[in-house]
Amino acid sequence: MMTEKRENWGSRFGFLMAAAGSAVGLGNIWRFPYLTGMNGGGAFIIIYLGCVALVGLCIMTAEFAVGRRSGLAAVGAYKSVSDRWSFAGALGVLSGFFIMGFYPVVGGWSLAYIAKSFTGLLAAPEAIGDAFGAFITNPVEPLVWMVIYLAINVVIVAKGIQSGIEAAGKVMMPLLYVILIAIIFRTVSLPGGGEGLKFLFTPDFSKVTGQTFLAALGQAFFSLSLGMGCMITYGSYLSKDEKLPQNALIVTTMDTSVALLAAVAIFPALFAFGVEPTAGPGLVFVVIPQVFAQMGGFGVIFSALFFLLLFIAALTSSVSLLEVVVAYLIDQQKMPRKKAVYITSAIMAVMCILASLSLGVMSGFTIFGVGFFDFFDILTDKIFLAIGGGLLAIFVGFFMKKEDLKDELTNGGTISFGAFEVWYNLTKYVIPLVIAWIAFAGITAIQQKSLMIFGLAVIAVFAIFSKKL
Ligand code: PHE
Repeated sequence: MMTEKRENWGSRFGFLMAAAGSAVGLGNIWRFPYLTGMNGGGAFIIIYLGCVALVGLCIMTAEFAVGRRSGLAAVGAYKSVSDRWSFAGALGVLSGFFIMGFYPVVGGWSLAYIAKSFTGLLAAPEAIGDAFGAFITNPVEPLVWMVIYLAINVVIVAKGIQSGIEAAGKVMMPLLYVILIAIIFRTVSLPGGGEGLKFLFTPDFSKVTGQTFLAALGQAFFSLSLGMGCMITYGSYLSKDEKLPQNALIVTTMDTSVALLAAVAIFPALFAFGVEPTAGPGLVFVVIPQVFAQMGGFGVIFSALFFLLLFIAALTSSVSLLEVVVAYLIDQQKMPRKKAVYITSAIMAVMCILASLSLGVMSGFTIFGVGFFDFFDILTDKIFLAIGGGLLAIFVGFFMKKEDLKDELTNGGTISFGAFEVWYNLTKYVIPLVIAWIAFAGITAIQQKSLMIFGLAVIAVFAIFSKKL
């Protein structure tokens, strides 16, 4: 046993809010709607739901089991079974680090846009697009917001599990639902909004290609915070009497419902105002203010609320990313929590400065063919998460004892988990193959070959030096 008492979640509700908070993020509110728009609406949604149910739910259950069994965060959890495997956990820690190299930049944008909603952003709808471009390429303003955003993360994570992450989740997640539903009421009732709903819920399978499946599965991974040890870490703070499969089901359902609700909030507005469901950062930061600008007096309030929603979603995700790295330093390097938080976030701030500047003054500076922002994004989203998820499934299926898994998922046989065999066989045989296909197709499609080789080399180096991690 460990000498120092390890932290735990204070309540089941608190854990659920924190885990759902990690899952619900920019992936749900910004990425999911635009992917849906690009991939044929209803058809994409059906495929996405299939991926969540088949792969996402199984991997989340597995991550919770691995975390609680060991009572340790990503690296320690793998290590407790085999030294050879610590690299898979370390890869997760590195993914957390790299995602935090750009996520707080976008988090800072959301904070800035709450303020901008009140300071004339909506006054000139035709200038909103240019204003966004000018804002993100400015060498100072986005950095200030990013630092404020990161500082809020630091305060929360430094307070620890119960009084920091859990307390924040308990307040913010219910608030997120309230705001989302308020916005839906407003947008669904817009004249012409019905067209948006029709687009969302009438599947058009003619637009579906192999790429659609890849996009859906990749999105399921990113959105559910899987493949980088985050849910292993959160599971490690769970008490022994919690029902893991049931909690995985609840978190998965909450994450999926927010993605669907976000689409339901956004699409009617796009169609009502004749805006194309365009891709990328533009959808949220350009189109949404344009839509609210045309709404009259309450537009300002709705715009501010929307960006508050985005901020809350991003914040409860980025604290989980920071926690993955911090928990590694606490568990494996025996570092005090506060020190771990300060050191980690200082490095993240430097990465974010580079990422933010890479969109503006440093746009000419590239590593492996891309700017820093894209470097952190592509490396994690396209390479590390998928491989991390595949490694976890293989680890669980082939390196952990089936009895141990059953014991963990049934709380020592005291509760039943009727779908155990289904879960086990899916995780062991089906999911590694599905993920291998996705990873192969996704990674080979990366245009910057040197970046692809770099990513794979990092994984190889980690695997070789596994015992040292
Ligand atoms: N799930 C988060 C989102 O949808 C992102 C995230 C990925 C958080 C991995 C933690 C771990 O935005």
